[in-house]
Amino acid sequence: MNPQSQPKPIRTALIGTGNIARVHAEGMQKLADRGSIVAAVDVDPERLAEFCDKWDIPNRYTSMTDLLAAEELDLVHLCTPPGFHRDQAVEALRSNVNVLCEKPPALTLVEIDEITAAEKVSDASFATVFQHRFGSGAQNLQRLIRQSALGAPMTAICNTLWYRPDEYFDLPWRGQWLVEGGGPTMGHGIHQFDLLLSIFGGWTDVTAVAARQARPTNTEDFSAAIVRFENGAIATIINSFLSPKETSYLRFDFDHATVELEHLYGYTDDSWSLTAAPGHDDLVRLWKEGLTGQPSGHASQFAAVFDAIEAGEPLPATSSASRSTMELIAAIYASAFTGKPVASGEITPESPFYSAMDGSAAPWSDVKASH
Ligand SMILES: NC(=O)c1ccc[n+]([C@@H]2O[C@H](COP(=O)([O-])OP(=O)(O)OC[C@H]3O[C@@H](n4cnc5c(N)ncnc54)[C@H](O)[C@@H]3O)[C@@H](O)[C@H]2O)c1
Repeated sequence: MNPQSQPKPIRTALIGTGNIARVHAEGMQKLADRGSIVAAVDVDPERLAEFCDKWDIPNRYTSMTDLLAAEELDLVHLCTPPGFHRDQAVEALRSNVNVLCEKPPALTLVEIDEITAAEKVSDASFATVFQHRFGSGAQNLQRLIRQSALGAPMTAICNTLWYRPDEYFDLPWRGQWLVEGGGPTMGHGIHQFDLLLSIFGGWTDVTAVAARQARPTNTEDFSAAIVRFENGAIATIINSFLSPKETSYLRFDFDHATVELEHLYGYTDDSWSLTAAPGHDDLVRLWKEGLTGQPSGHASQFAAVFDAIEAGEPLPATSSASRSTMELIAAIYASAFTGKPVASGEITPESPFYSAMDGSAAPWSDVKASH
C-alpha cells in the first residue's frame, strides 16, 4: 500500500481502569498496528497508576474533563459503572470525541435520549459495546438472512441462564436499581437479546413477567418475556441469576433451517450449529463456508469501530441500535410490573418507565428479600 494512503493511527483513551478495562487493553493490543490507548482516567489514582504501568499507557488523568482538554483523541472507551455513562458520553460528544460505551449504555430511556441528542449536534458518534454482534457466526447468520437463504423467520429462543449466589450481592451497590438499572435483564441478558435484535430487527410488542425469587437484591433475579418482531417472528427471552447449570443459548428457527448458538461469555465458530429442514441440505455447506474463525469479543468489535472511524461512518453498535435494546428492557419491566403487553413506542416521556426502569418501584420494593 502507498504509505500516504495509510490511515493515521487511532488515538483512544480509557475512562475507568477497573475489571472490564483489562479486556479493552487486551483487545487494543490485538489492533496495535491501527491504533493505541494513549491515556487513561480513573478517580482512584493508585488503581490508575497500576493499570497504566501494566499496560504501558503514557498519559494519566483523574478527571475526564482534564483529559479532554489536554489530549487529541479519536475515541474514548467508557469503562465506568453505568451511572456515569450518560454524563461522560455527553461530555465527550460535546468535545467531538467518539464514544464506545460499555453496556448498559445508560440507566434509563431518558438518559439514552440525552446521549442521542448530544450526538446529533456533535461531529462524533456514540456506540455501545455489544461484542456478540461481531463474531463470524453472527455475521454469517446476517449474511444468509440478507441472501434470503434461510426462508422466513419463525421463532427464536434467547436464554441467559446464569448463576449468581447470595454473596454476589454483598457489595453494597449490587442489585440497586439506581446504580445498575436492573437485574439479569439489564445487566446480563442484554448481551443475548441485543444479538437477537441485531438478527431479527425491530420488535413490535412484549409481554413479560419479572420476579425476585431468591436472591437478596432489590432488582429482579428472573424475568421471562414473549416478544413479537416486525418480521413476523415470535421469540421467548429468559434472564436468570438462579441457574446452577449456566448457559447463554440462542436458537433461531427459519422456514429452511434452525441456527443455534450455545456458549457462556463469548463464542467461537464451534459454538454455532445449523440444522437444515428436509430438502435444504445445501445450507449446511453454505453455513460452514461463511465462517471465518472470528470469535465474539471486544477485539472483534474494536476492529469494526476502527473501520467506521476511518470511513467517517456511525460507530457500531449505533446509538439507535442501543436505544432499541434499551427500549426492549424498559418494555419488559413495564409489562412485568403493570401486567399488560407493551408496544414499541408506547413508553413516552409521560410513562414512569421512561425515567426509571422499574417505574420508580418494583412490586416487592417494600418487602425485604428472604436471604
Ligand atoms: N461487555 C461486557 O461483557 C462487560 C463485562 C463486565 C462489565 N461490563 C460493564 O463495564 C462497566 C464497568 O464495569 P467494571 O466491572 O469494570 O467496574 P469496576 O468497578 O471494576 O471499574 C470501574 C472503574 O471506574 C472508576 N470510576 C468510577 N467513577 C469514575 C469517574 N467518574 N471517572 C473515571 N473513573 C471512574 C472506578 O474507580 C473503577 O476503577 C459496567 O458498565 C459493566 O456493566 C461489561
